Amino acid sequence: MLITVVGSGRVGTSAALQIALKELGDIVLVDIVEGLPQGEALDINHACAILDLDVEVTGTNDYRDIEGSDVVVVTAGMVRKADMTRLDLLHKNSEIIKDVAQNIKQYAPKAKVLVVTNPLDVMAYVMWRVTGFESRRVMGFSGLLDLGRYRYLIRKELGVSYKSIRSMIIGEHGDTMVLLPRYTHVGEMQLTSMLSGEKINEMVERTRKAGAEVIKLRGWSANHGPGAGVAEMVEAILKDTKEIIPTSAYLNGEYGVKDVYIVVPCALGRNGVEKIIELDLSQEERVQFLKSVEVVKQAISQVKL
Ligand code: LAC
Repeated sequence: MLITVVGSGRVGTSAALQIALKELGDIVLVDIVEGLPQGEALDINHACAILDLDVEVTGTNDYRDIEGSDVVVVTAGMVRKADMTRLDLLHKNSEIIKDVAQNIKQYAPKAKVLVVTNPLDVMAYVMWRVTGFESRRVMGFSGLLDLGRYRYLIRKELGVSYKSIRSMIIGEHGDTMVLLPRYTHVGEMQLTSMLSGEKINEMVERTRKAGAEVIKLRGWSANHGPGAGVAEMVEAILKDTKEIIPTSAYLNGEYGVKDVYIVVPCALGRNGVEKIIELDLSQEERVQFLKSVEVVKQAISQVKL
């Protein structure tokens, strides 16, 4: 298997390292900065040598080297500064994504594409439109990150293993993301019967702001969380596990919504999105989800395609 990671910044390299740790295949790192992907590749190769991981990592500035990729992970773009919203990144990053999309279309026309660049759902839509790939082959990352942040708080609060915490998330990767306490189970118990509504709301709010919390503390945005989540998704695709993972996917009537990329539960496998799961939403959850859909649609309408 061949996995390409476009963008050799913190997110791209963290993703590449965590993909290498799973020995899913050889890895190509692409970046426009000369020397950067080559140097990162060499460093990761050394890590693999120490850990007995039989993986070859190649760094390149030339898209021809992505030929034959099974999965292309796209992290290229500007990152969010503390005073920026994800939507501020819209105009700058859509130009970058269009360029990357043309190259993927030309050199890796059979690949599944996992977009990580923000604003996430909008960039996934731009990638899909510009490549012209079947929508199930183009996915957006973020659900596992936001869910991970929520699970972290639940574990801390209740003192139970992550293995016993199951949950789901839908909506935009942004301020209107929709955590689903009703679909959160700890052991066999519903979270809503274990914690007060006030406590749950507090955790939901903190999850929504967790990306900004990281930036505020250290001055740059998250990379280890994103890297771990990306590796999980790449594994589900390449091993064809059909695991249900919150994924920004193209909706064509599911949830009563059309022509948008937004996070919903998806079974991932060798074709990308194998199945979209339609959760039975309460009135309140539905209102929140549709609000989130509107935010993404509004942003998409601002991109010249
Ligand atoms: C985050 C930003 C990078 O959630 O979207 O960490």
